Amino acid sequence: MKLATAYLGLQLRNPLIVGASPFSDSVHAACQLQDAGAAALVMRSLFEEQIDAEQRALMHHVETAAESNAEATSYFPSFAEYQLTPDLYLRQIEHLKNSLTIPVIASLNGSRPGGWTGYAQKFAAAGADAIELNLYQLVTDPELSADEVEADMLETVKSVTSSVKIPVAVKISSFHTSPAQFVLALEHAGAAGVVIFNRFYQPDFNLEDLEVQAQLKLSDPSELLMRLRWLAILSPHVRGSLGATGGVHSSDDVAKAILAGAHGVQLVSVLLKHGPRVLSTLLDGLQHWMREHDYTDVNEFRGALNLKRCPDPAGFERANYVRILQSWRV
Ligand SMILES: Cc1cc2nc3c(=O)[nH]c(=O)nc-3n(C[C@H](O)[C@H](O)[C@H](O)COP(=O)(O)O)c2cc1C
Repeated sequence: MKLATAYLGLQLRNPLIVGASPFSDSVHAACQLQDAGAAALVMRSLFEEQIDAEQRALMHHVETAAESNAEATSYFPSFAEYQLTPDLYLRQIEHLKNSLTIPVIASLNGSRPGGWTGYAQKFAAAGADAIELNLYQLVTDPELSADEVEADMLETVKSVTSSVKIPVAVKISSFHTSPAQFVLALEHAGAAGVVIFNRFYQPDFNLEDLEVQAQLKLSDPSELLMRLRWLAILSPHVRGSLGATGGVHSSDDVAKAILAGAHGVQLVSVLLKHGPRVLSTLLDGLQHWMREHDYTDVNEFRGALNLKRCPDPAGFERANYVRILQSWRV
């Protein structure tokens, strides 16, 4: 059974990738994941705010960013709250590269153009095999148009892709008015792939203290459905790689993501819940499903249910929405 796949021009032994998460903080954990079958590892992100704050602090010769620009940075974690300083991050790339044989993908996280994107070169120099640029942004300013936001994002992507030779994947949110158009623009800006989709951590309200309460809940499989639809819509159009992230918990989920068009399938919540060994269960299950469906190679069925190739494309589109609403009777 052939599970090998190309992702961002990298040869992976199978499509399962450890998504950006704390797993990359420990070389030991990363080795366990590799031994259990992970084909690549995305590191946790280094953030635009973190790099900017450090650069400002260096310029002002002060100890912490909070002291140098308290107002602008007070919403963000202080230096001590980040797990890795920018320097330690670079060293962690080196440690991971020295211990792993699978590709290591370093993650930069931010969306506005600026000096922080220079870290892409440092990632490459430290040995990263690729970069995942996470454009996570929550636009709350009513003065800012979607075009302005996306123009900033595209400029950021260009500044990263033009500064390194290693491939750059862009992790995007589902909240674009025309995701397909934006994804093609990302490719035009040099992205070697797109990762679908960022998961937004939804704050709750605390009714006792009347406060907004931050919380991190792990995903569940229902979150995969939106990703499947967009992978299927994008798959016929993109020239580069598609990565799936969000809601992949079983081998059936992995098969579905590939049927929709994914080259790489990222996992975080399922690994945090069940530990590295779940990877071998997922790989066994994927091979079992392939045998039952007479596939011998993952590349045979990639995109078989994408918008161009599925038997009923209306299933993805507005027609299906209208039909579903009309089918309910009380
Ligand atoms: C504890 C934790 C830390 C994460 N850290 C990052 C990060 O630093 N950068 C990033 O792009 N995504 C980060 N993510 C998001 C994951 O990479 C992934 O996109 C998300 O969890 C959805 O995938 P899942 O359903 O497999 O969990 C994190 C997720 C978790 C649970």
